[in-house]
Amino acid sequence: MERFLRNKSSWFLLCGVLVISVVAIKYGSNLQCSQCSHALCARPNAVSSQIKVRPAQTNPLSARKKVPSARTITRCTVRRKNVAFLKVHKCGSTTMSNILHRFALRYDLNVILPNKNNTSNFWILGALDNKIHERIIPVTPGQNYNILAVETFFDKRIFQTLIPNNPFILGILREPVERQASYVLYHKDVRTKLENQLKTDPYIFRTYPSSAPHMLRDYNFYARKWRMGNFIEKMDNEFDMIMLTEYFDESLILLKRKLCWAFKDIVYMTLNKNLKNTGYAISPADRDKILNTYKNDSLFYEHYKGIFFGEMSKNGVGFLHELNQFKLVLKLVRDYCTYVKKGDNSLIIPKSSWNERFRVDPNECRLMKLTEFPLVQLLQERQRNLYAASSQK
Ligand SMILES: *[C@@H]1O[C@H](CO)[C@@H](O)[C@H](O)[C@H]1NC(C)=O
Ligand SMILES: *[C@@H]1O[C@H](CO)[C@@H](O)[C@H](O)[C@H]1NC(C)=O
Ligand SMILES: *[C@@H]1O[C@H](CO)[C@@H](O)[C@H](O)[C@H]1NC(C)=O
Repeated sequence: MERFLRNKSSWFLLCGVLVISVVAIKYGSNLQCSQCSHALCARPNAVSSQIKVRPAQTNPLSARKKVPSARTITRCTVRRKNVAFLKVHKCGSTTMSNILHRFALRYDLNVILPNKNNTSNFWILGALDNKIHERIIPVTPGQNYNILAVETFFDKRIFQTLIPNNPFILGILREPVERQASYVLYHKDVRTKLENQLKTDPYIFRTYPSSAPHMLRDYNFYARKWRMGNFIEKMDNEFDMIMLTEYFDESLILLKRKLCWAFKDIVYMTLNKNLKNTGYAISPADRDKILNTYKNDSLFYEHYKGIFFGEMSKNGVGFLHELNQFKLVLKLVRDYCTYVKKGDNSLIIPKSSWNERFRVDPNECRLMKLTEFPLVQLLQERQRNLYAASSQK
């Protein structure tokens, strides 16, 4: 050792090691910060802190080998509760509405709903204007609306008037050809004819012309003479996030991270899904034809797909671990909810690196399985009762 210290080059070596250690510590802490770079850390109303998570050995869902990227996860403490969602036709948005509406029930939130009594289109809010307050079920005086997830057209200014406390503006898009196929297969009158045709010819677009409304119509693109480039720039500024139907679970994980939500807030059963959307084919020429008819939708979709992929990759490999865990939780919830009966015990989902322990009860399953009409009706009744109770005081 003495000889080592007397040697000049040993001192250089020691200093070098010291410098490298300091740099490594600094760089290491930067790495931690960059793990925290997704939106929730930047949001003023989403408080977050870093918590070291020790894997719980007794827990079957987290008893796997320690995952390096999961050692430090961002755990936030304040859930964002104000969300305005643009429901877009044939994009899996009924499932998303169901998630948001159950969220409202879970945390006692106020929901924006058309003030119609079981009449035609009672679930549709429609076009928004400055008199929209007269057409929705009133909110308890002194309170605000929190959730918008019924059918309407996009108007950020009015979305913000309806939900005054910094709502998270959420949209959804779907790959145009898949969306078109889903549309054609979904419509009952077309389906019957189609089923006969499919016996001899799987190419569904050989005889059936495309006819779904454009996604951009729901985004209000056609209300004015927008140029695509300008419109995209505007939407980039106005939306906090645009989900993709093809990446629904990935979208939910991203959303969970941005809003500081939990797995219990994003579990779902697929609703409104076509039962028979297999056994068909689309030729390359038909594909091109559809993409050409929906040129603006395609451009719009490609733009947001790029943004979405960028965000996913920024979240690193930890994102994939969380996604994988979520898919497992979804399977447990589906297996339970598909066969559950009233009065059965709750399903317990154990704690993992990405979620606290939580339970799913038969009533949550019932809500999860409700389609749009009965769920909107249930919420309309609830929102009316909340208002009536407040005005009796
Ligand atoms: C719906 O019904 C409630 C009572 O059942 C009534 O107070 C309200 O005015 C009705 N609304 C409309 C739009 O008809
Ligand atoms: C609404 O109307 C439909 C048919 O018009 C009926 O089947 C349903 O029971 C009604 N629901 C309520 C809550 O009144
Ligand atoms: C696409 O948008 C442009 C305006 O940017 C419009 O002139 C054109 O008609 C639209 N195309 C389709 C297929 O809707």
